[in-house]
Amino acid sequence: DNPALIDTFGRVATDLRVSLTDKCNLRCTYCMPAEGLDWMPGDELLGDEELLRLMGIAVRLLGVTDIRLTGGEPLLRPNLEKLVAGMASLEPRPKLSMTTNGIGFAKRAKAFAEAGLDRINVSLDSIERATFERITRRDRLRHVLDALAEAHAAGLTPVKINAVLIRGVNDHEAAGLLRFALDNDYRLRFIEQMPLDAQHGWNRQEMITADEILDLLGAEFTLTPSPAERGGAPAERWLVDGGPGEVGVIPSVSRPFCGACERTRLTADGAVRSCLFSTTETDLRGLLRGGASDEDIAEAWRGAMWGKLAGHEINEAGFAQPIRPMSAIGG
Ligand code: GTP
Ligand code: 5AD
Ligand code: SF4
Repeated sequence: DNPALIDTFGRVATDLRVSLTDKCNLRCTYCMPAEGLDWMPGDELLGDEELLRLMGIAVRLLGVTDIRLTGGEPLLRPNLEKLVAGMASLEPRPKLSMTTNGIGFAKRAKAFAEAGLDRINVSLDSIERATFERITRRDRLRHVLDALAEAHAAGLTPVKINAVLIRGVNDHEAAGLLRFALDNDYRLRFIEQMPLDAQHGWNRQEMITADEILDLLGAEFTLTPSPAERGGAPAERWLVDGGPGEVGVIPSVSRPFCGACERTRLTADGAVRSCLFSTTETDLRGLLRGGASDEDIAEAWRGAMWGKLAGHEINEAGFAQPIRPMSAIGG
């Protein structure tokens, strides 16, 4: 039996990203409309036991070593600390991380660290209160800053920040965000915006490219390539002013990194996606609820990954966005 999630291009998925809910308590303009979206009905979401079973299959039978919780906003999932504790007792124990907007995290940071969470990545596009509110449509900057500080204090390190720059809105903050991150020992990464918004409003001319970001930062800092091994990671890393401080750029559109992808994804309603941009999915919930064995489920998961495409086709003519928006796939 073949333990690995391998595809026809020889890539092996060892990194599982699990979306826990499609709901969010922010309304970032580049993600979803002010009124929100039609959220998934509760009975379609996987329960904690179902999730732990699938995660157990992933680590025991499929060679997954890292699990990242995403959303929507994963913290909206009730009793998340308990789910994390369950994940930490899987064998072999996976490395556990979470990608979150940080709202409400500050007072839970210690509990998450105790439950076994290893690291956290926090989304933060602005450190100006008004600009933060303009982007997220919510006045919650303070909550996110507190989350970062408490995560750092709880040892959920390196604490990373993900920032999306939007032309004319927060692109003046590139260097300021980096200064803030360096001063506080957070690792900042800038993300190129991808065509995954619910409104289908993305356009290439508006996107701030990785090279533009590097130019913006270059005006105030000296950046040199980091010698760290990139592996399958989305981020290109740069040393700032000789190091040890660094900054990352995630150039999904202008310099795709699909050739080294090691990711498999599970949606909150139990579908495997081999790629963020997949237009097909493999349902595992039906198998789970229909009494399938662990090995049957593992085999379906292997099949889903075997069909993974070489890469996204954002830069090809005729590209079509997947039906699910980013908030229902997981970042
Ligand atoms: P680390 O292990 O902390 O480096 O995690 P990460 O960077 O893989 O995870 P995170 O959830 O913080 O992802 C940051 C951003 O990377 C996401 O918001 C996406 O923009 C991008 N990203 C993550 N996975 C993929 C992927 O498979 N394809 C593409 N194109 N972008 C991705
Ligand atoms: N392109 C790139 N990044 C996005 N994010 C949300 N939508 C997009 C998009 N269309 C980011 C969020 C968060 C991370 C999980 O994904 O800002 O930092
Ligand atoms: Fe929520 Fe993330 Fe979308 Fe912002 S980008 S609305 S934080 S899911």
